Order: sequence, then structure tokens, then C-alpha cells
Amino acid sequence: MNWRQLFETKRLDLLLEEMKGDQRLKRTLGPINLTALGVGAVIGAGIFAATGKAAHDVAGPALMLSYVVAGLTCIFAALCYAEFASMAPVAGSAYTYAYVTLGELFAWIIGWDLILEYAVGAATVANSWSSYSQEVLKKLGIHLPDFLNRATVIYHNEQYILTGSWFNLPAVVIVAVITAILVKGISESASFNALMVFIKLAAVLFVILVGAFYIQPSNWVPFAPYGWTGLNLFGCHISGQVDANGNPVGMLAGAAIIFFAYIGFDSVSTHAEEAKNPQRDVPIGIVASLVLCTVLYILVVAVLTGMVKYDKINIDSGVSSAFHQVNLPWAEAIIAAAGVAGMTSVLLVMMLSAPRVFLAMARDGLVPKAFFAEIHPRFQTPWKSTIAIGIFVAFLAGFLPIDALLHLTNIGTLFAFVIVCAAVLIMRVTNPDAPRPFRCPLVPLIPILGILTCLLLMFSLPSANWWRLFAWMGLGLVIYFGYGYKHSLLRVKR
Ligand code: ALA
Repeated sequence: MNWRQLFETKRLDLLLEEMKGDQRLKRTLGPINLTALGVGAVIGAGIFAATGKAAHDVAGPALMLSYVVAGLTCIFAALCYAEFASMAPVAGSAYTYAYVTLGELFAWIIGWDLILEYAVGAATVANSWSSYSQEVLKKLGIHLPDFLNRATVIYHNEQYILTGSWFNLPAVVIVAVITAILVKGISESASFNALMVFIKLAAVLFVILVGAFYIQPSNWVPFAPYGWTGLNLFGCHISGQVDANGNPVGMLAGAAIIFFAYIGFDSVSTHAEEAKNPQRDVPIGIVASLVLCTVLYILVVAVLTGMVKYDKINIDSGVSSAFHQVNLPWAEAIIAAAGVAGMTSVLLVMMLSAPRVFLAMARDGLVPKAFFAEIHPRFQTPWKSTIAIGIFVAFLAGFLPIDALLHLTNIGTLFAFVIVCAAVLIMRVTNPDAPRPFRCPLVPLIPILGILTCLLLMFSLPSANWWRLFAWMGLGLVIYFGYGYKHSLLRVKR
């Protein structure tokens, strides 16, 4: 094996040259579409579903501050993403950034990690979509049979338990529908997404404005019933409180869980190749969507924990159920329906992003080009990889437990952010003069803060997730050394 090949980097000028070739995606997205894609990817299962459980079991009202911590972490990473996205506005996001800075092995690791973020994240959202849509169906008097209404396996008290259900039918159906929409094309997807984004923003504002009248400040006391810090290092308790299973709890641990609510803003950069003016619009899309969501989330959690005492919050559908608990069942129905719409657009963006990472990897020869880089002649979409991702997501969502999927998505994404922040630092040293239409401010402070806050959140997750992350990465390395290492096009192009 040639070790130097593992750390060989792709030249930035070569990358920009490649963009002039054929087989590129259509440039149809402006700054509003990109911000809508960001918001579409961000507001979903995290705020509508995971927040209830995190407030109830992990952080209490201090979850408001958990959202501040997670939001700050994302803003540090977002500024680094934006610098790269403006330098190398091609599909592939952090995968491509790593290829020009850290070399092929790191690029593979990050690409493989992004597939985890988008595909496993999409499965998590499809699971929550199923729960929320069944809430809506129940209001209409429709009940799904027990053998089709949830995943085959759940994860409870550190154990995998068979539920008796064959598979999660609504989750599989929604994944199939989204896959079909995505194969047909990006423009249609963007306008569908804009409608969904409008509906969920209206729902979130409704929650804030109506819920504010039902706040009882006494519900915010005690503010941090589980403490402030909860840190583990590979299973060893370092600080703060732990729950009955030895997992960290407290404000920081809450941030590590609801971090899921922010995942997706980075997908804006995977659409750089489809942006009309990527240098200007991609950074706008990333930062605008993140700032908007952070403000809304903090307000929603303040309202939620003010309306209902933290230990009475519903752990599956906290936000909509809170309105039932204050005797507004009509509001519950509206929010549940809007939640379904909100999660649909998250799914759309996540499932749009994963095939584009594969597309970038296939163009470099790291995964089979004939399959993953083929653009449909009429629809102009990477249709084969879109269908492959659809099948994978449907399998995960249909059969596997949501908690494990959510935590795995979080740790994988945080890991990707660490690499992106490190890559910005390295690139400033190795390529100081490369054009940077958007420069991350306060370098090296912001990237360093990004790395440290991401690591802090990674250590605040239950330690089992580290082992799952290592298993996923191990599988990725087997594929890299079995295929990518031998077929990489990098040396042919030099
Ligand atoms: N941020 C996305 C959500 O909360 C993944 O659904």
C-alpha cells in the first residue's frame, strides 16, 4: 500500500476546472430557495418530537439553554462551512472540502460520515413522521393495526426489544413517496419544499404566540432539575448527574440530544452546484437559516416548559400535546398536522443531500461511477443513487429504533463538523491566497471553538454511540480499501 496516496489532496483549481465539464446539475436555486432549503432541513423532528423527551428526561426547563449551546456550536461550524462552500461551490459539501485540505482518506471518512448524517437522520425523521401522522389519523378516527404502526425493534433501558410490529408502514410509505419526488427533479422539489416551510413556520409562530398566554412562570422552577453538566468519556463518568442507565443528564447532555434539531443547515452547501450564485448565496442560505431557527427554537422551548411542568411533558409529541394539556385540543390537531408537513420537508432535504454526496464521491472514483454518478437524461437528477438511498432509509425507518438512530446521527454529524472546522484552519495555512468570497471571521478562534464545542457535545451523549460510530466508520474503511483506494481518479487527473 502507498501511504502517501491516503493523504493526497485534490487541487482546488482542478476542482473548479471539473465544474466546467458536462454532466453537471442544473443551476436553479437562488438565496431564498437556499434559505428555504436550510429551514426545510432544520425545523422538524428535533423540535416537534425529540424536545419533549429531552425536557422530560434529560434537562428540564434548562433545555432552553441547551438550545443556546447547540445553536452556538452550529454557528461556529456554519461559519466554517460557509467559507468552504464559497471557495469550492460544488456538490459534495464537507467531503469535497476535506479532499482539498486533508487528503483522500479523510475525504472518504467525511463522505461516509455525511451519508450517515443524511440517511440515518432521514430514517429518524421518518420514524417521528410516522408517530405524528398517526396522531393526525387518530383525530380522524383512523387507527393503524398494531402490526404495522411502529418499528420492529425499539431500544429501551439499554436493551433491544421486539415490538411485535412487522414494520413501520407510514415511515416506509413516506420514504417511498419522497424518493419518487426526488427522482423527478430539483425544481419541483424546491417549490414543494417552499410550501412545507411556510406551513411549519406558521405552526412554530402559532405555538409561540398562542402558547405564550398559557405560560406559568412557576413551571420554570426548578430550572435545571438534572444539573448543568453531564459528561462521559467512552462510558466513564466525568462530571454531572447520570440517569438509571449511567447515561449523562443535565443541560449539556440535553444540548447533545436536541442538537438533532439543528442538523440539516449544512445541507445547503451540498446544493452549491445547483445555486445560481454560489459564492454569495450559499453562505447567506446557511447563516440565515441557522439564526432564524435558533431564535424560534429557544422561544418554543421557553413556551413549552412554561405551559407544562417538565415532568408532565409528553415524551413522543411534546409540543402538540402541551396544547391538549392546557385544554386546547383544536390547537393540538393543527400543530400535529403542521408537524407532519414540517417533517416531510426535512425528509425531502436529507434524502436530496445523501445522493449528492455519493455523486461527488463517484466523480472521484471512490464509489462506482456508472451507478452513483449517473444523471437521468430527462430529469437531470442522480436517480440511481436516489433510489438506493431511498431503499436504505426505508429499511432503517421501517425496522430500527428511533433513539439509537437519533443519537447515531448526532454523533456522526458532530464528527463531520469537527473535521470541517479543522479543515478551515489547515486550508488557511496551506492555501492562504486561494480566493475566499466568504471568510470565516476571527480565525483561528471560531474554528477552535467549533472543534471544542462539538467534542463537548459528543462526550455528552451516551457512550454506546461512540461504539456505533466506530462500527459505521469501520465498515466505511473496509469499503474504501476494498474499492475506493484502488479506483480513485485523483492520480489519473494530476
Ligand atoms: N433538524 C432536523 C429535524 O429536527 C433533522 O428534524
